[in-house]
Order: sequence, then structure tokens, then C-alpha cells
Amino acid sequence: MIKLIEKDVYLLNQNNYSQRIFEGEIPLNKGMSYNAYVILDDKTALLDSADSSVLNEFVDNLKTVLNGRNLDYYVIHHLEPDHTAGVMEVLKLYPDVTLYISALGYTFLKQFFPDAEFKNVVKVSEGTKLNLGHHELTFVNAPMVHWPEVVVSYDAYIKTLFSADAFGSFTVIEDIDSSDYKDQDELLYEERRYYTNIVGKYGEQVQNTLKKAKTLDIVRFCPLHGPIHTKRIPTCLKYYDLWSKYEKEEDGVLIVYCSIYGHSVKAYEYLDKRLTKLGVNHDSVNLNKEDFSVALSKSFIFEKIILIAPTFNMDLFPLMREYLLTLKDHAIKNKTFALIENGSWAPQAKSQMAKIINQFNSCQTIATALTIKSSLKECDLEILDKICDDILKGDSCQINKNSSNLHHFRCKLCGFILEADKLDPNFKCPLCGKDASFFEMID
Ligand SMILES: Cc1cc2nc3c(=O)[nH]c(=O)nc-3n(C[C@H](O)[C@H](O)[C@H](O)COP(=O)(O)O)c2cc1C
Ligand SMILES: [Fe+2]
Ligand SMILES: [Fe+2]
Repeated sequence: MIKLIEKDVYLLNQNNYSQRIFEGEIPLNKGMSYNAYVILDDKTALLDSADSSVLNEFVDNLKTVLNGRNLDYYVIHHLEPDHTAGVMEVLKLYPDVTLYISALGYTFLKQFFPDAEFKNVVKVSEGTKLNLGHHELTFVNAPMVHWPEVVVSYDAYIKTLFSADAFGSFTVIEDIDSSDYKDQDELLYEERRYYTNIVGKYGEQVQNTLKKAKTLDIVRFCPLHGPIHTKRIPTCLKYYDLWSKYEKEEDGVLIVYCSIYGHSVKAYEYLDKRLTKLGVNHDSVNLNKEDFSVALSKSFIFEKIILIAPTFNMDLFPLMREYLLTLKDHAIKNKTFALIENGSWAPQAKSQMAKIINQFNSCQTIATALTIKSSLKECDLEILDKICDDILKGDSCQINKNSSNLHHFRCKLCGFILEADKLDPNFKCPLCGKDASFFEMID
């Protein structure tokens, strides 16, 4: 699909409706769009290309929009293969084209396409300009949003920022302008899932780029995925600012839970009812059913997160471990966690969750925690109530910061965990009776 945006600037939109997974792991609900842009001024310019899955459509669109004109300039903002599958085709069709690319981008280009030989290459850096007649592109470095070579470009003539992967979403293009999407909540959901999973780790670098963007007079964002933004620019900026500062979108609580047999789910059900009764805004993620991209993205919405997980082979149930490691991989910050574990003989999910959380920056756990022994009992409910109260109180309740003199010692035979500042040599395991020599310090 080719769409005129304004004054000889065209969107080449290639939708892949059947794509189910992005970057090898992230499920897509509606497919994915790969955008390129063409400016037909005194000179012609192509901005980026597309993914291999939509290459034929991209080449057809490019030839159609040029309508027999030669291509003078080819700008590559970002080298990731979902935007550069067309490099060799562009080169074949327009061998004299001049390439505008960052120096690091050029290094990557040679790595991905060792046979590509561009006759004319201009290596762009901050402030480099490309004059096309009326339009003039000014390049702005955007390193780590979300690869190191990324540049974005600003066209002052139409006040448009060609923003590479920034401000994209996991969707095909249904309407060209994001403000025309009927279901704005669904669009925001896919923008959040896209940002948190793709760019989420690089909050600081996003902040740096946002600062530069704020100095420009912008009426349009043109990203490489999803619709373009005009009226929704303030919304985009608001959420990118919150997400990149790891600040909550809403007050409330997220409950993330998983289970093997279903007993831990009872704790979730109780908390759900309790928070509803208290009138507290809350949401949940069932890790047994929902994928990590959703869990990660919902974790950016709330500051307070209650975790519920069973013990599994002397360790944490793998789904919860994977979730927490996903948070760690995305450099999550500014969260307060409450921990609820389940176990039948030597519960250790709590200490293992705490161990991973201790590696996060600016995160804490509240002191009130619950150990469920196999099934949830009447006497556990009081503690669940206190967990709700304490996590809602936030800073005013007792909080375990990352430092503690206490260590955990694990019985290598049965998995029993002893919490103590040091291991008494006369200690005997209360579960299996083994002596202190069978214990190993785990943190
Ligand atoms: C394969 C497997 C390994 C387990 N390993 C442990 C363990 O090392 N320590 C423990 O206390 N419980 C262990 N459990 C027991 C569960 O943590 C316990 O039964 C818990 O109640 C399960 O909660 P759920 O019903 O929510 O799945 C294990 C269970 C399974 C199926
Ligand atoms: Fe990318
Ligand atoms: Fe991309």
C-alpha cells in the first residue's frame, strides 16, 4: 500500500498479516507492519526498506511510487534486518544511488551484506543535512533506541520526524494516522508491549533522544512500524517519558502468579477479591497462560507487584524465574514487590524470588510475606490482608532493602532452607536430620 502523507512524501506500507512471532519470540496478535518512506522532491529519496517477508511488495511499491524516476538517495536509519532486507534490490535497481548512513551503520551494512557495493556513501552524524529541494533532512543520533547505530531524521519543511523504531507498535497499519484507530486502548496496549519488549531496557538513551526531540517543532512522527502519529504526539511523548523513566502509569497493584496444581491460584483469587473490595485498581498476569511480553508490559504500568509462585525442585517454579529474569533483562526499576510462595516440604520460592529481585536497581520487597504449605488455609488469609495493606502503604511499611546480614543455607539432601547470619556447626536439618556439613550457603 502506498499513501501520500503530505507534499510529495509517501508512506510505503508493507503489512505482514500472517506473521505470528516477532524477533523469534514475541507473539503478534494482528501481524506486523514494515514501513518505508519516499520523498519525491527535486531529488528523490528512499528512507529505509522492509523485512524479507514483505520484500516483493516493498520493491513493487518503490517502483510504483518512483514511476520511472531515478532514486537519488537511500537513507538507512537503522540496520536491523526487519528494515534492510531490500538493500541488494535497491542497489540492483538504482546502482548510482547515494547512501546516507551512520558510520556504525555502514560497518553493520558490510557485516550483513558483504557483497553490497555502494558507489557513493555519506556517513552521517549529528546535524548532517541532506537537501532534496524543498525538503531537507537533518540527522539526529539516537544510539540504543534500540541499536547503537540508529539515527533519526527531521524534515523541517513538513515538521516531520522520521523516528526509526521509536513510536512503533505491534500491529499492521489499519488507519494511516494513529488517532483514527477505533480501539485506542488496544493500540496503546500494542505500543506499550512494543516499547517495553523492544526498547524497554534503554530508558536512559530514550530519555536523551526525547530531550533532543523536544527542541524540534514536530507535527508528525513517522515510525518504521505501525501507524504515523499526528494528533497523538502528546500521548506518545507522555508514555515514552513515563516508560523510559520506569515510572508507573497508574496507581494500583499488579498480581503476577503461576501454579502447578492450582493451589497457589487460590491466593490470587483471594487477593483479587480483597483488592476489589478495597476499591483498589489492579490487574493480573497468569504466567501459566499469558506470555512474558504481556507480563513485562503490564509490569511497566504498576509500581506495586505481588508475586505468587510454587517451589519446584528446590528452586523457583521456572515460569516465575523466567518472568523475573525478563524484568532483569529489561533493566526494570522503581518497583515494590510482595512475595507469596507455596511448597510442600521445603518452600524456597520466596528466597529465590528475593535473590533475583535483589539484583534489580531501585526495587524493594515488603517485609510481610506468606508461605503457603500446599494449600491456602484460613490462617493464611490474615497475612494476605496484611500484604494488601502493606504494599498499598508503600514506603511507610517495613521494607527489605537490598542489604541484609542474613544468609540462606540449603540442605543439599532435602532442600530445607535455614535463614541465619551464620551456620551453627551443630545445626541439624529439621526435615531430614543431616548435619551442618550437608548445608551450602546460597546467598
Ligand atoms: C516437580 C515438582 C517439584 C517440586 N519441588 C518442590 C520442592 O523442592 N520443595 C517444596 O517444598 N515443594 C516442591 N514441590 C511441591 C509444590 O511446590 C507444592 O506441592 C505446591 O503446593 C504446589 O502449588 P500449586 O498447587 O499452586 O502448584 C514440587 C512439586 C513438583 C510437581
Ligand atoms: Fe529495530
Ligand atoms: Fe524494527
